[in-house]
Amino acid sequence: MIRKNSLKYSLLLMSIIVLNSCVKNQKKEMKIDVEKSEVLITNFKEQFRPQFHFTPQEKWMNDPNGLVYHKGIYHLFYQYYPDDIVWGPMHWGHATSEDLISWNHKPIALFPDEHGLIFSGSAVVDKENSSGFGTKENPPLVAIFTYHLMEGEKAGRKDFQTQGIAYSLDNGDTWTKYEGNPVIGNENIKDFRDPKVFWHHETNQWIMLLVAGDHAKIYSSSDLKSWKYVSDFGKDKGAHGGVWECPDLFKLKVEGTEEEKWVLLISINPGAPNGGSGTQYFVGDFDGETFISEHDEEKWIDYGTDNYAGVTYNNTPNNERIFIGWMSNWNYARDTPTKTWRSAMTLPRELTLHKKKKAYFLKNYPIPAFDKQLEEIDNMSQRNMKTITLDSLDFNQTNISFELSLRENFELQLKNTKNEVVKFQVDAAKNELRLDRRQSGLVDFEKSFGATVHKQSYEPQNELVEVRIIIDQSSIEIFVDKGRYVFTDQIFPTENYKTLLINSDETEAIKDFKIKSVNTIW
Ligand code: FRU
Repeated sequence: MIRKNSLKYSLLLMSIIVLNSCVKNQKKEMKIDVEKSEVLITNFKEQFRPQFHFTPQEKWMNDPNGLVYHKGIYHLFYQYYPDDIVWGPMHWGHATSEDLISWNHKPIALFPDEHGLIFSGSAVVDKENSSGFGTKENPPLVAIFTYHLMEGEKAGRKDFQTQGIAYSLDNGDTWTKYEGNPVIGNENIKDFRDPKVFWHHETNQWIMLLVAGDHAKIYSSSDLKSWKYVSDFGKDKGAHGGVWECPDLFKLKVEGTEEEKWVLLISINPGAPNGGSGTQYFVGDFDGETFISEHDEEKWIDYGTDNYAGVTYNNTPNNERIFIGWMSNWNYARDTPTKTWRSAMTLPRELTLHKKKKAYFLKNYPIPAFDKQLEEIDNMSQRNMKTITLDSLDFNQTNISFELSLRENFELQLKNTKNEVVKFQVDAAKNELRLDRRQSGLVDFEKSFGATVHKQSYEPQNELVEVRIIIDQSSIEIFVDKGRYVFTDQIFPTENYKTLLINSDETEAIKDFKIKSVNTIW
């Protein structure tokens, strides 16, 4: 009896000690930001943790949602599962920023309810209070999202996705769901989701796009509550290797002209050019009812495999078109080797529209505000650039840029002492750009991750073009010709890359080579 008790006692003592040291450790990890009265539950120093890309403090994240600017604040909502680092019952997580570079983590904005889980969608500022949820003096933020009813899906029904709305009168801090939800029911369409809403000035009404499996559907409304179906787009256009997701539609001026065109983004999974999930786009016209595409060939915003479900901000201050994508791919999103959180967003990128030889194309390139994170560490513009080897720097948080002729073969490698290497190549004979992450670090957590070299073809040109490479611990983003050709890829080196090797066929082919380090945002 006595022995039993003393055993119990020592067990109790041990657990108190263990508990205490856990609490102590946790305390070390916990910073309380008094100003924002927010508890940070990580120091953002875990292995692979991005230092200047948005990540949730912990747990699973996928698509960006509800991108909207209001009263000096950029909101980023996102698909969030707060209980695990794999996909699960979806909520809308929330973060805010004044510059789209530094972020404040906010409490969860939208929780599942009797109509279902909260899937992807958008948010608008209802300036005229058309919904009646606020006043003209204090216009509501209105979120429009998909409800996903698990019970319906499990029962083998097709009508388990509907559209709902919620509003906030305190700039996104608290949300009230509309009592008349769902605002669009389901007429037996299995994949029926991801509403993007915007104000169409030309016809003075709200427009919603959503996807229905292999096409987009367009609706209009005067009050955000009652919606009228107006048209379909896309059954016979673009890529159809997988289900259509996360549409977006907006107008852009063709750079250097007064011409205006409408651009439609459609994410698709699977069926992207280098495997799995990717985002295609169409350039055309929209009259408030119908979207008509100019072209038949497929167009993609990114040939890396980690830029998915990207959409753009509503209501930006100078009408810039700012895009954020989810930096992952459904092929392996659930398997990547991070432990306390999963996934990051791409850098915010400005979308611009260009026209050459009658063909339109989009560029996507980091917003200028990102440059304030950069610090010059080595400006090598004066050196002979045919071959360079740098062994003294740490490349896991850097911005490398240079001017390059795409008429010559070229290769850039980033390496560590374990022979892990990521390569960017120009094959001038094939007019092909390549990103090779097959030996970049951990790759075998899923079979497709390190299986292939990612490729895209380019149009040869006489002028030098800028190549900009941004590395942040577990990602590499490559922008060629200011975002005409882009690769966004995750990488998981087990040791920092410390060697940079460059090789080109021609001395004059590389100019203005700069390496900058990128400051952390956390
Ligand atoms: C895209 C997507 C959306 C859906 C959400 C669910 O990645 O599949 O279509 O709304 O993720 O989390």
